[in-house]
Amino acid sequence: MGIYFEEKSRVFTLQTKHSTYQMKADEQGTLLHTWYGEKTDNTDLSCLIARWDRGFSGNPFSVGGTDRNYSLDTLPQEYSCFGTGDYRISALKVENADGSRAVSLRYAGHTIEKGKYALCGLPAAYGTPEEAETLAVELADADSGISVRLLYGVFEELDVITRAVQITNGGKEGVTLLKAASLCLDWQTGDYDWLTFHGRHAMERNLQRTGIAHGVQSVGSVRGASSHHYNPFVMVCAKNADEEHGDCYGFSFVYSGEFLMETEKDQIDQTRLVCGIHPDNFAWRLEPGESFIAPEVLMTYSPQGQGGVSRIFHRLIREHVCRGQWKHSRRPVLVNNWEGTYFDFTGDKLVDIARDAAELGIELFVMDDGWFGKRDDDNSGLGDWYPNEKKLGCTLKELGERITALGLRFGIWFEPECISIDSDLYRAHPEWAVAVPGRSPVLSRNQLILDFSRKDVQDHLIERISDVLKSAPITYVKWDFNRSVCDKYSNALPAGRQGEMAHRFVLGLYRVLETLTQAFPEVLFEGCSGGGGRFDVGMLYYTPQIWCSDDTDAIERLQIQYGTSFGYPVSTMGAHVSAVPNHQTGRVTPLSARGCVAMAGTFGYELDLNRLTEEEKEEIRGQIRTFKELYDCIQYGEYYRLTSPLSGSCTVWETAAPDGSEALVSAVYHHVQANPVPVYVKLRGLDETASYRIRLAGAPEGQGQDERQTEHKAEEIRSGAALMHAGLLIPPAKGDYCAWQLHLVRINQ
Ligand code: DGJ
Repeated sequence: MGIYFEEKSRVFTLQTKHSTYQMKADEQGTLLHTWYGEKTDNTDLSCLIARWDRGFSGNPFSVGGTDRNYSLDTLPQEYSCFGTGDYRISALKVENADGSRAVSLRYAGHTIEKGKYALCGLPAAYGTPEEAETLAVELADADSGISVRLLYGVFEELDVITRAVQITNGGKEGVTLLKAASLCLDWQTGDYDWLTFHGRHAMERNLQRTGIAHGVQSVGSVRGASSHHYNPFVMVCAKNADEEHGDCYGFSFVYSGEFLMETEKDQIDQTRLVCGIHPDNFAWRLEPGESFIAPEVLMTYSPQGQGGVSRIFHRLIREHVCRGQWKHSRRPVLVNNWEGTYFDFTGDKLVDIARDAAELGIELFVMDDGWFGKRDDDNSGLGDWYPNEKKLGCTLKELGERITALGLRFGIWFEPECISIDSDLYRAHPEWAVAVPGRSPVLSRNQLILDFSRKDVQDHLIERISDVLKSAPITYVKWDFNRSVCDKYSNALPAGRQGEMAHRFVLGLYRVLETLTQAFPEVLFEGCSGGGGRFDVGMLYYTPQIWCSDDTDAIERLQIQYGTSFGYPVSTMGAHVSAVPNHQTGRVTPLSARGCVAMAGTFGYELDLNRLTEEEKEEIRGQIRTFKELYDCIQYGEYYRLTSPLSGSCTVWETAAPDGSEALVSAVYHHVQANPVPVYVKLRGLDETASYRIRLAGAPEGQGQDERQTEHKAEEIRSGAALMHAGLLIPPAKGDYCAWQLHLVRINQ
């Protein structure tokens, strides 16, 4: 297996198929980080550390103050501490009972076990004893009694290492954790860029690549959720690394709350990355005997550039994060009524849409916001999770039965963590709404936050949602969250523990999600936060798909889904075909382009189907047939970003079956030209020794699908080698936002 410990040198080497990770407990007991990257053997790589005397980088007194070459300020470390001689960004900052802020950790033992550790109350990647191993390294601070257990999960085959941290106060007095990061990683060598994903509501996860420079750079969130604004996924790449080549590392924080990912290039050009809970709203009281768990970070290294890292994360999330019945079951093609009706609907109107949906081959009808309490706009009703039977014209059960009688599944929307001031729940429990005593709270979308750090609030929501789910034939829930959290204060916590509220809120959310997903295993949960404001691996542990963005414009979606694909697989990205002109941008795109883009996700529709023409309906029937036919290739295929939507005239991506038996190449022109520059792409993941038949997806064998094809050959045969090494010419654009879906099937070995 992949974890080796060399007793004499106290070197730990974690070997995966293509990477090596190494650390060493040195002669002082400091746990040094010696290597992460290209695979090597178990050689002790502390020989690479330049231990030289440097001014203003002090030497720990515990070594007698005599070894001027030994400084925590320059040594690469596994878990850096604040206040004891390392002046760089730290992972652990503790306030002791006497008010001092100092902690220093030394090696105190370790264990190695088969299987992957789990974290109580927190999401974490999982694996069988055949798939994963766990290393736990114990570190201790002799002066305070604080001990730290560094947890490492090694997925050897997958090239993934996970990290989490458990901090225990073994001292006699209480302490406060001011920062408890989950990962600290030092590179002694190399010059790196990092890729971060920033955004805003309706334009999430825009790629930014910048050099890691001297000084501290960071991305993070203090919004109570991981946020639209920065995603808790980053890559660190060698300067020359690109989509296909070069050293590239990926880091994903398995957490849905406030986070901080920081880099620092130090005085001798070493690079440090620290990831964890954002310390700004964090101060965790640890009484003697108590422990705190810092959430997990997933890491990988690939010599195959950003694409290599993405594909590892896609497999990891699909196979070792997403759980339950829907992990491998086919997700239903859905229709959601939000952009079709907004709040303006009746039960009959919904059934009318569902009737058309059934006839088109759609499998799930989702009733969005507006079915409960007093909720005809977004100013009232949140918290009152009782069906508005007057508006629906029937009970929820009756509505569900009418929809299921059409052969569809029935789904429903909730926003459990929010409350309207104009709601019965607020009138009964104003103390459940988050606010700082004596101050007016910040309203957003005219709503407040429910204090999910409180157990009574959690229990109330579990009961309300369970009652609704039991009352009708519901097999899908959309879990929304439409504002950032501010005024972080909980009436249920004492003054000295208010710094725990933001994290306790997330733990409360996880408890509610865990309880409900276990109680209703047949229900497919889809996460959402005003689109993709909480698109993170933590949520994916409970909700195997997340609505990617409130921007449904196919051309904008190219960019959003492109950015999202760096850290997350297609099977997690909620994507729908909506009406034109698009409600967010006013842009008019052909139905074929909207279908093509939505098929790079969990695929569904979000428009009033009753308003479609017969021609449009026929095209939609074809899209659904195509999606169902190509489902495995799209959802489980290896994903390749062949061009970027940020440049050129056409975005092209490919999903290839892992065994090379088929592939789907999707291309959408975002810029049409009179005298076009041709677009060529080299395909990936094919069998070089085989031939492939190429035809338009959805077209019957040997026949064109529509008039676009008449100028294009119906079917072609090409070798895998030629497609991969010479390339493929993408057919030209025929009008604005033209889309092509080319299906390749291997025809011989
Ligand atoms: C935000 C979501 O992203 C939308 O899809 C929709 O569900 C609205 N909320 C409803 O309020």
